[in-house]
Amino acid sequence: MSTQNDFVLAVEGLSVSFDGFKAVNDLSFYVDEGEIRVIIGPNGAGKTTVLDLICGRTQATEGSIRFRGKELTKMKEHAIVHAGVGRKFQNPSIYEDLTVFENLELSYPKGYTVFGALAFKRDAAVIEEVERIADTIFLSEELEKPAGLLSHGQKQWLEIGMLLIQKPDLLMLDEPVAGMSVAERRQTAILLRRITEGRSVIVIEHDMHFVEEIADRVTVLHQGKVLSEGSMERVKNDPKVVEVYLGH
Ligand SMILES: Nc1ncnc2c1ncn2[C@@H]1O[C@H](COP(=O)(O)OP(=O)(O)OP(=O)(O)O)[C@@H](O)[C@H]1O
Ligand SMILES: [Mg+2]
Repeated sequence: MSTQNDFVLAVEGLSVSFDGFKAVNDLSFYVDEGEIRVIIGPNGAGKTTVLDLICGRTQATEGSIRFRGKELTKMKEHAIVHAGVGRKFQNPSIYEDLTVFENLELSYPKGYTVFGALAFKRDAAVIEEVERIADTIFLSEELEKPAGLLSHGQKQWLEIGMLLIQKPDLLMLDEPVAGMSVAERRQTAILLRRITEGRSVIVIEHDMHFVEEIADRVTVLHQGKVLSEGSMERVKNDPKVVEVYLGH
């Protein structure tokens, strides 16, 4: 029997009010290790706010968010990152003037050069890790290119790589394929499938083809609450979901 402590992420009774308006309203959901959970729902449903709450950007009014058993609602943003939660925002925040290599290197967890004699060895480890991540995000051939010259999709991948190099146990992505070409979307699906080993991924997305390709389970949000949850097959045939979202 699994208990609720076995989940990587357990969100329970979570609410937040903005000037009396409940953007997230008594929300509960659970995410397993190795799972890709996609959150869908109409504009203003509270999807981005849920990620803001998990990463500590927004303070919950009520409820709990347990990550590997640790309560996140009282923790500061940087402590949540340190605990293993990585979050990608909609617009890539990369350093356009630096190369792909340098962007990844900068994101490598800090503190590795202060160990004197160990520094050389550690640098080799950094290079190896940067190359490994570059391969995962389809940018092996672009390592020396300034990030500003990458395509929109490649910039999104680079930012995912900058999160991956910090080895988060939970990775959260807000509309990662918005503005991508069809080919880039397909590659992003492959990328997400590659990175789930030993971690969980939460993705917010409006592109239903993409959701269908990647989701293990889908949570449909509506007015800050779970409207429906389960496999894509199940939620897309749920009349409530068709009515408020997919039918449009
Ligand atoms: N910091 C804030 N202050 C006040 N209201 C907010 C704040 N953040 C979000 N809201 C409101 O909460 C509601 C949910 O917004 P949210 O951005 O979470 O929706 P969403 O599901 O991500 O929508 P979209 O699909 O358009 O990105 C909206 O009505 C929004 O205006
Ligand atoms: Mg949003």
